[in-house]
Amino acid sequence: MEYLPKDDRYSRMTYRKCGNSGINLPLISLGLWHNFGGVDDFGTCREIIRSAFDSGITHFDLANNYGPPPGTAESNFGKILGKDLAPYRDELIISTKAGYLMWPGPYGDHGSRKYLLASLDQSLKRMGLEYVDIFYSHRYDSETPLEETMGALAQAVKSGKALYAGISNYPPDQTADAARILSELGTPCLIHQVKFSMFVREPENELSRVLRKKMIGCIAFSPLAQGLLTDRYLKGIPADSRAGKPHGFLKTAQITPELLEVVRKLDKTAQSFGITLAELALNWVKSHDFITSVLVGVSSKQQLDTNLRILNLPDFSPEQMSMINSCLPEAT
Ligand SMILES: NC(=O)c1ccc[n+]([C@@H]2O[C@H](COP(=O)([O-])OP(=O)(O)OC[C@H]3O[C@@H](n4cnc5c(N)ncnc54)[C@H](OP(=O)(O)O)[C@@H]3O)[C@@H](O)[C@H]2O)c1
Repeated sequence: MEYLPKDDRYSRMTYRKCGNSGINLPLISLGLWHNFGGVDDFGTCREIIRSAFDSGITHFDLANNYGPPPGTAESNFGKILGKDLAPYRDELIISTKAGYLMWPGPYGDHGSRKYLLASLDQSLKRMGLEYVDIFYSHRYDSETPLEETMGALAQAVKSGKALYAGISNYPPDQTADAARILSELGTPCLIHQVKFSMFVREPENELSRVLRKKMIGCIAFSPLAQGLLTDRYLKGIPADSRAGKPHGFLKTAQITPELLEVVRKLDKTAQSFGITLAELALNWVKSHDFITSVLVGVSSKQQLDTNLRILNLPDFSPEQMSMINSCLPEAT
């Protein structure tokens, strides 16, 4: 049946300005790293994407290697675009990335111009798109001059195959250098995609200062620590969970008794606030002023619905943040 998106979708979402740009991103964006590959159920993928768009999620985040097998998240997303979202292309911010291993040999990994531009062409083909909205260098590559990697991003923008350039997983100093080079090339850095959650707090320090100074947007990935910061693992490891699947990037060895003790404390705090642990974790991320968007992954529409509830929650007060942070180990 023909898909008709909900008319009230834009009044259901909050949008935040992305750095010093004209782009507003939804406070919650959807990532397709897991659960959208060739191994996953296409009907569920389609239901989640439709439901996301119906809720005002305009930003879908991909990378060349998402699957498994690598590339299949992009081809599945391309199919869903073709079936449901093609008439709404101008309402979407679609991103992809290159930087991790994608094909064999010396030109299918890292940060060379050769790799990035070939990979972007392949991504566009898989998604059936003429351009992506954001093209990212997926990680900093110390073996390639930063001028070359940033030059490739600028070339992607100048050729019309991407509208904006972004970086991901870059350390603070390299972020500042990348931003300077991109500005000099006339294609400013729109956004930095960083790992940020109650369990990964480094971006709160030096990196957030660089992003504020350079007026770069920030989108936080793995805000639920791949599901650890939810009730998913409180009673064991479900077979249909990321840690329970053989291809999931979350490994059972990471789910230690010490970690579960912290998760239980956080769960109790969430209950005392009258919200779920997932909501606590996502609201904690969104309460940081350098965050433009919270980039979640979900394996079902129900999970997405729960996560969207943070749109109705005010940011945590400093007192609430201290109460939550006191449950976290010092090293986070
Ligand atoms: N730039 C990079 O290097 C990089 C790296 C990683 C990710 N990313 C991006 O960030 C996106 C999000 O990363 P992520 O998938 O690790 O994010 P996440 O939001 O931390 O974890 C997602 C997982 O948490 C569980 N979950 C989500 N909502 C839940 C809820 N309400 N209740 C219970 N469990 C819930 C689901 O696990 P189950 O599947 O077990 O149900 C889901 O697959 C990726 O898709 C990708 O776009 C980027």
